Amino acid sequence: MLLSPAPEGTLTARYPELGTGPIPVEPYISPEYFEREKAHIFKKTWLHVGRVEEIPTAGDYFVRDLAACDTSIIVVRNREGQIRAMHNVCAHRLNEIVYDKRGKTRKFFCKFHGWAYDLDGNLTGVPDEKCFFGLDREQFGLSRVACEVWQGFIFVNMDPEPAVSLADFLKPMYAGIEGYPFEKLTSGFSWSTVVNCNWKLALDAFQEAYHVAYVHGNSIADAIDKSENDSMPPLDALCGEYHRRLSLAGNQKSVYGNPKAVTSGGEAAKQALSDAASKRPIAAAALRAGIGSARHSFPLESLPAGLNWTNSPNWLFDINVVFPDFYLSLRPNYCQAYNFRPVAHNKTLVEARVYYPEMTTPGGRFFLEYMKVALRDVLLEDFSTLERTQRAAETGAKKHMILQDNELLVRHSYHVVERLLAAGEAIQEA
Ligand code: FES
Ligand SMILES: [Fe+2]
Repeated sequence: MLLSPAPEGTLTARYPELGTGPIPVEPYISPEYFEREKAHIFKKTWLHVGRVEEIPTAGDYFVRDLAACDTSIIVVRNREGQIRAMHNVCAHRLNEIVYDKRGKTRKFFCKFHGWAYDLDGNLTGVPDEKCFFGLDREQFGLSRVACEVWQGFIFVNMDPEPAVSLADFLKPMYAGIEGYPFEKLTSGFSWSTVVNCNWKLALDAFQEAYHVAYVHGNSIADAIDKSENDSMPPLDALCGEYHRRLSLAGNQKSVYGNPKAVTSGGEAAKQALSDAASKRPIAAAALRAGIGSARHSFPLESLPAGLNWTNSPNWLFDINVVFPDFYLSLRPNYCQAYNFRPVAHNKTLVEARVYYPEMTTPGGRFFLEYMKVALRDVLLEDFSTLERTQRAAETGAKKHMILQDNELLVRHSYHVVERLLAAGEAIQEA
């Protein structure tokens, strides 16, 4: 299948190593390919599991099931305020230590024979200890997992000796967004669901905007800035060693495409309402109710320079895909953190969290409720293709898919996975 090289000036031309060729379907449908991804990617790299605000005080914990790592992890704040992660597996006869998905405790007690562990996972209590045979408590704590925090996001790594620190993993692509006011986004909502499709297939639907005009034709297509010829090209795209970014412009004359309107009010709100008042009256009513009620304002000039890196006056948001499965979209005043956690080669746990500033008035809370429902509908539209695409891929009717310039991130994603599988297998053979 011969395709022409990317013309100069296109996004793809900047990354000649990615080529312009078709992408094989096999990585999306093969159980064997998924086993390779588990071994060489998910068990070897940093994975986002949650935010520090979820466990604000000593003893607060949550549990994350990471099927792609064949484990379940307890993430807990210890007495010193540090965040620890450990496998949810008792050292005695391996029962799961914690059954609840989140909670608060002074110690972890196994519900099988009552072994007790402190918040660092050290074994501190063994009923009938004298009946064991010289039990050395120090050797039988919970198995710790590497755990580091970046900008309040907690990551774990199953590799006992991670090849790079979390900071070194993220900095080359994301140093410029450090300082984004995550800590001011204390309100929000979340959904999670299992979708019967490959994790990359789900992620791909969120790392290009080519689909917006169609899938979201009646919901948010009018929020994206259109070019003269009516397409919706991204402002720019960046591909790194692992991660990738896409920057998008918004139609300032829409509520959804002008996120500043509610926090800044004034001109931004006037502009958003100029069209929305007649075209989307409910969105306009929600905006009117919410203007000025956010606890914080978010002046664009105070955001880190790495956001809106093209300095577009119409900037809407940047999509940041943190390899492998973490989608972090940053807007002037709210953000979305989605994980596409693989469960099987054709099953993905999607965990979607949206963080907003706290709204101080009933009108502001109405606005937030409106945005929640609007986003829910958009997500349902996004999900509407996924299981169908997976079924269609599994028919074997097509062995490849083709990608255009604005789907560069999908192409990059494929190449990074391939490269890491090859590298992991080379090390294994050596
Ligand atoms: S399995 Fe946990 S105390 Fe026995
Ligand atoms: Fe979408």
